[in-house]
Amino acid sequence: MIKPATDGLMPFYAMDIARKAQALEASGRTICHLEIGEPGSPPAPKVIEAVSRALPNPQAYTAAKGMPELRLGLSAYYSAQHGISVDPDNIVVTMGSSAGFIIGFHTAFRPGDRIAITRPGYPAYVNTLLGLGFSVADIPLSAENGWLLTGAAIHAAYREQPFAGLLFASPANPTGATIDREQLADIVETCATLGLTLISDEIYHGLDYRGASVSALELSRDVMVINSFSKYYCMTGWRIGWMVLPEHLIRRAEILQQNLFISAPTLSQIAAIAALGERDYSEQQKAHYAGNRLLLNEGLRSLGFDIGAPADGAFYAYAGIANFSNDSLAFCDRMLEAGVAITPGVDFDRTDGNGFVRLSYAGKRETVELALERLNKALKS
Ligand SMILES: Cc1ncc(COP(=O)(O)O)c(C=O)c1O
Repeated sequence: MIKPATDGLMPFYAMDIARKAQALEASGRTICHLEIGEPGSPPAPKVIEAVSRALPNPQAYTAAKGMPELRLGLSAYYSAQHGISVDPDNIVVTMGSSAGFIIGFHTAFRPGDRIAITRPGYPAYVNTLLGLGFSVADIPLSAENGWLLTGAAIHAAYREQPFAGLLFASPANPTGATIDREQLADIVETCATLGLTLISDEIYHGLDYRGASVSALELSRDVMVINSFSKYYCMTGWRIGWMVLPEHLIRRAEILQQNLFISAPTLSQIAAIAALGERDYSEQQKAHYAGNRLLLNEGLRSLGFDIGAPADGAFYAYAGIANFSNDSLAFCDRMLEAGVAITPGVDFDRTDGNGFVRLSYAGKRETVELALERLNKALKS
């Protein structure tokens, strides 16, 4: 087990690896970047055009909850993609979903409250919660169960140590595990039974290789949904996302946004309005990820990584490294030396993560091909 600092904070190793990779690149090496979950393509051309048109104008703060046109656009997105009506007044536009978490946690909970998260899970969940003074309950998931969260697992964790809320993502990072409507209903109902506030991180929505993603909002209005333009819309660096809140929480979220961030970046809001109309472009990116997904999964399996069927969503492979190492950090350092940047499992799971690594296939196909060649060579040497 990896030892955290006394307050529980740990580095975000994917970012540390990216920094080391950049240092190697600065010394003249080429590195295949599979460490960060970042689309290799820019946003749709119309997004750039919209921003270029707006650039000469003064870029003032917007309303704290976001530009009315963007919130209307998001409301239209919910009716077109999910067949539900969402009041634009219940939407807060945030500085990426990362800011949405800060607002969400302080809106729904009070420091000291315990929030459950899955293990493995996105590293910032545990670090943000601990850093902000909340405590964390782990819900362990297993490869045998397809890394899927279930109502039974929530009940079991709650019996061991009660908690006030649950935060989870589907499609998930790092596993890509994606639940269907019935499985989501099981989670929503379990949270209602236990009186938990449910935060559904829907950042990988749109990236479900089986079909349409199901939003928790389709099943209950008493949930908090966090989403972002980072992944599906290829806008990681634009730092723009949104949250949908139940009626009783919206005012507190607005107050926190006013005071913590004032408003999300104006140019990025303008970009986001344009992005919502460019889903065809995002679907083209998704088709490209789908090709990479098969290539990477098959390649890893043939190299001796322990990996099941390709996950249904997102753009990650979470692969077992038992055939090579029992120290995921050392393994990733070794692969980086061989020219492939990947992320150690300890980023996502402080207890069992040493047996795993995560690889992102959101970049170019040539990058995945070259990475597999380099891994092959490194593992044989
Ligand atoms: C599950 C999950 N949630 C949230 C984020 C943060 O995204 P954003 O760029 O919207 O802050 C990430 C980023 O990788 C993620 O994987």
